[in-house]
Amino acid sequence: MTTASVHLDPAFVVAPVRRRIFGSFVEHMGRCVYTGIYEPGHASADTDGFRGDVLELVRELGVSVVRYPGGNFVSGYRWEDGVGPAADRPVRRDLAWHTLETNAVGIDEFARWARSADVELMYSFNLGTRGVQEALDAHEYMNHDKDTALSDQRRKNGADAPYGVKLFCLGNEMDGPWQTGHKTAHEYGRLAAETARALRSAEPDIQLVACGSSHSSMPTFGAWEAEVLELTYDQVDYISAHAYYEELDGDLGSFLASGVNMDHFIDSVVATADSVGAKLKNPKRIEISFDEWNVWYQTRFANEGAGDDWTVAKPLIEDVYNVADAVVVGGLLISLLRHSDRVGVACLAQLVNVIAPIMTAPDGPAWRQTIFHPFALTSRLASGVVLRVEPQSETYTTARYGEVPLLDATATYDEGTGEVIVFALNRSTDAPLTLASSLTGFGELEVAESWLIGGGDPSVTNDREHPDRVVPTALASVEVADGVLRAELPPVSWCAIRLRATTS
Ligand code: AHR
Repeated sequence: MTTASVHLDPAFVVAPVRRRIFGSFVEHMGRCVYTGIYEPGHASADTDGFRGDVLELVRELGVSVVRYPGGNFVSGYRWEDGVGPAADRPVRRDLAWHTLETNAVGIDEFARWARSADVELMYSFNLGTRGVQEALDAHEYMNHDKDTALSDQRRKNGADAPYGVKLFCLGNEMDGPWQTGHKTAHEYGRLAAETARALRSAEPDIQLVACGSSHSSMPTFGAWEAEVLELTYDQVDYISAHAYYEELDGDLGSFLASGVNMDHFIDSVVATADSVGAKLKNPKRIEISFDEWNVWYQTRFANEGAGDDWTVAKPLIEDVYNVADAVVVGGLLISLLRHSDRVGVACLAQLVNVIAPIMTAPDGPAWRQTIFHPFALTSRLASGVVLRVEPQSETYTTARYGEVPLLDATATYDEGTGEVIVFALNRSTDAPLTLASSLTGFGELEVAESWLIGGGDPSVTNDREHPDRVVPTALASVEVADGVLRAELPPVSWCAIRLRATTS
């Protein structure tokens, strides 16, 4: 059996665990909102029409922040359509997904949902068909206390206290030709800078995300970030990154190495942002908001969002995830944790039904997809600081990313509890891997618990009839002896291991 090693030491720290990297995303798309989080008449619905069974799963998932209301949807959205008496709200065409938007849910309802779910609200402005004034208006409605037209309108609509939203996206994927109101980097950078300047004069301490690239293979990748940041550097806190991965042509080996691509993507954006900072002689460091990431089988859903069947809540991109997908999601979380010094926000896209960890049947149950588990475990377990971990292992050859290490791993350490959590991935498609990890500087540790996803048939899924076919199990072989953690990682697997101070 191949052995791979890591060395863990509390002296080597990347950064504190950033809770906002456990974010997610609710877009008015497909069945994410309608029959997803919101279904009046459902047996579990609250007085606002929000499904209680979904809320419970969202809390269990450990989501910290939720980006809303889009996505491509936001680039044609008029926020004011979604406030006030339900009967007066207009039905509109949504050009992004060729559906009808009833506006039954708007900012007031979503803010109440976010409060019930105990998540921070991250709001996206429309900079596709709209601009500075509409962003200011939406901000005034949400965050101004009282005695102005829009804050008083919010109060009339039932929310006395402002929502206190702190995190805002300046548009969505504005580099993408598919985006309603798509712009060049210069056009977008100028609009984002002026919108940010105006918003900051209303509320100086808000945090703003400028649009980066829709994915790292966009033809403008790199150049887009550089130009947008040159125009917005003083005004924004984050530049966004989006990435979706899928297994193509049965190439599981490359798919399991998706984290290599995410690492490279993050490192490239950091380098670009820092080079702009250097050029501008500005010591400020721009962080990354990785506000859309997941596995998404785009090749299976090539024509969705087109057509002339303008309907409400038409099912869109309802990927059913298997074990391999969950292993990849666990690996992408390792990549995000590893970059905690520069990735301050990340959003698993999306939350319910649309490429989501949670699925629902209208008028029926809600259940956890396979990818729910690595996310929920990482969010629950990661605490304290992220340790600097340099996994050493043999490599394997991938068609997409060349030579890739079989092992990927990271770890967190909580000085308060004395606990060390190790997250590890065995990318081998056919062989187990022994993880050997030396533990220095922590005192004596023992294994408290472990969780494993994988090791069997990687194509197994959960569904309505079998919602718990894939759940985490304990590692069969894991121990600490003589200051070394040893664990057997089965092929195509992700695991988390909780170590605590020895009790005996
Ligand atoms: O999450 C689905 C879509 O993917 C979003 O609307 C868009 O921003 C991205 O291209």
